[in-house]
Amino acid sequence: MQTNRADIGLVGLAVMGQNLALNIADHGYTIAVFNRNPDKTREFIACCERQEPSSERLIGCVDLAEFVRSIKRPRKIVLLVKAGEATDATIEHLLPHLEAGDIIIDGGNAHWQDTTRREKRLSALGFHFIGSGVSGGETGARFGPSLMPSGTFEAWQSLEPIWRDIAAKVDPDTGKPLEGAAPGKPIQGGIPCTAYIGPNGAGHYVKMVHNGIEYIDMQLICEAYWLMKNLLGMNAGEIGKIFEEWNQGELSSYLIEITGDILQQKDPEGDGYLVDKVLDTAGQKGTGLWTAANALTLAIPANAIAEAVYARALSALKDERVSASQMLDGPVVTQESDRKALIEAIRNALFCSKICAYAQGFQLMAEAQIEYDWQLDFGTIAQIWQGGCIIRAGFLRKITEAYHRNPGLMNLMLDPYFKNALHEGQSHWRKAVSLAVANGIPVPAFGSAVAYYDGYRSAFLPANLLQAQRDFFGSHTYERTDQPRGKFFHLDWSSSDRQQNEV
Ligand code: 6PG
Repeated sequence: MQTNRADIGLVGLAVMGQNLALNIADHGYTIAVFNRNPDKTREFIACCERQEPSSERLIGCVDLAEFVRSIKRPRKIVLLVKAGEATDATIEHLLPHLEAGDIIIDGGNAHWQDTTRREKRLSALGFHFIGSGVSGGETGARFGPSLMPSGTFEAWQSLEPIWRDIAAKVDPDTGKPLEGAAPGKPIQGGIPCTAYIGPNGAGHYVKMVHNGIEYIDMQLICEAYWLMKNLLGMNAGEIGKIFEEWNQGELSSYLIEITGDILQQKDPEGDGYLVDKVLDTAGQKGTGLWTAANALTLAIPANAIAEAVYARALSALKDERVSASQMLDGPVVTQESDRKALIEAIRNALFCSKICAYAQGFQLMAEAQIEYDWQLDFGTIAQIWQGGCIIRAGFLRKITEAYHRNPGLMNLMLDPYFKNALHEGQSHWRKAVSLAVANGIPVPAFGSAVAYYDGYRSAFLPANLLQAQRDFFGSHTYERTDQPRGKFFHLDWSSSDRQQNEV
């Protein structure tokens, strides 16, 4: 084994690790790979030698010390192991072999607070730690993911050329992802879907918000499908065709595209469409929950994102729902006769709700940067998400444009493009939600998005009464509309004379 030969190393040869290693090799870098189970490393290398054009740039190592020695200094070592304890254990195993200035890059779906903790510990030991969100699943890892790295700027500068090379690329003129990469033939040119996000856990935080938005994007699509099925009696194939059409317009996105495909898939095991045979319970690995929980902690109203997490939780109560369906009554569903009009209403409901969902995600990041002392560039974050990741969509270019127009934008809904879309779509949006409620069809994401819109545009809310209730039972005080902000009053609600005092 020749030492100091590899440009970079990678630990963890599960699906994501294998694909990212091949992506790196395809871009002309020599990469050393290591897996805890040496047989996995041997099998991967043997398989690549048979079928991968870039296999000569892969160095398979079965000994950790040899793996580390094979990498040029300062070493860059990517971890693609299970988030959590496995990440900590891998770092501990690597540490005795590293030298000052070496860089560990965690590409897993780590909780951003773990990344902050790891970065602090490793920097105290003289190493660098980059937490990099990686989105795009297996295909993204292989041919161009969206990458959201954070850590010290110095470490980022060392990693940047590789990260820019392997990231997804978008067309600078249209913002559309550049496609057509194949083994050994990566995309040339285009704007890379990666950029420095900030220090410590910022990159994994942004990836977490990406996933929260991914949850709500998916839930909104499901509600659109469910309304067409229940209010129009359309079958999965017909609805799939509608999604195909929608993918040509302002809703154009990876998730709309795959939905059109999924819905038109026939059941390979029998009659009908496969989606009708898939059990209606959705799993989750936790990143959507982290986003919703953080929104609660920071007191940011990301209610649609939270609804998407609750919708998965409700779906998982399958047995209870089946029992309750025999016990709890609702209205009889009345089918709508004007198919074209309702489909257009549902399309607008989806688009307006999507604007609210992204407004919530960006509002959350805006608060997080204050709370955690980061400086996030929202136009760039939206640009990184234009290609490679699960939420990639034409829509994200509009978000980048909005933040370029006004970097201090208070809320995405206030940008002229999005404001106009909400104004034009809202009567349809309300019609779709009203029909759903009248017919007893659950649309928690559409409904919470419209409530967010209406709440945000309300100069007055019933919180006057709420605050008075708090003062009544807990002396929590209130401000008055006829007095300057910051002056607090308490009324002695239980006394006979009910005196108000300034406190
Ligand atoms: C991505 C995805 C990816 C994964 C999610 C799924 O950006 O590539 O978000 O990270 O699909 O972790 O999460 P759930 O299992 O919670 O749906």
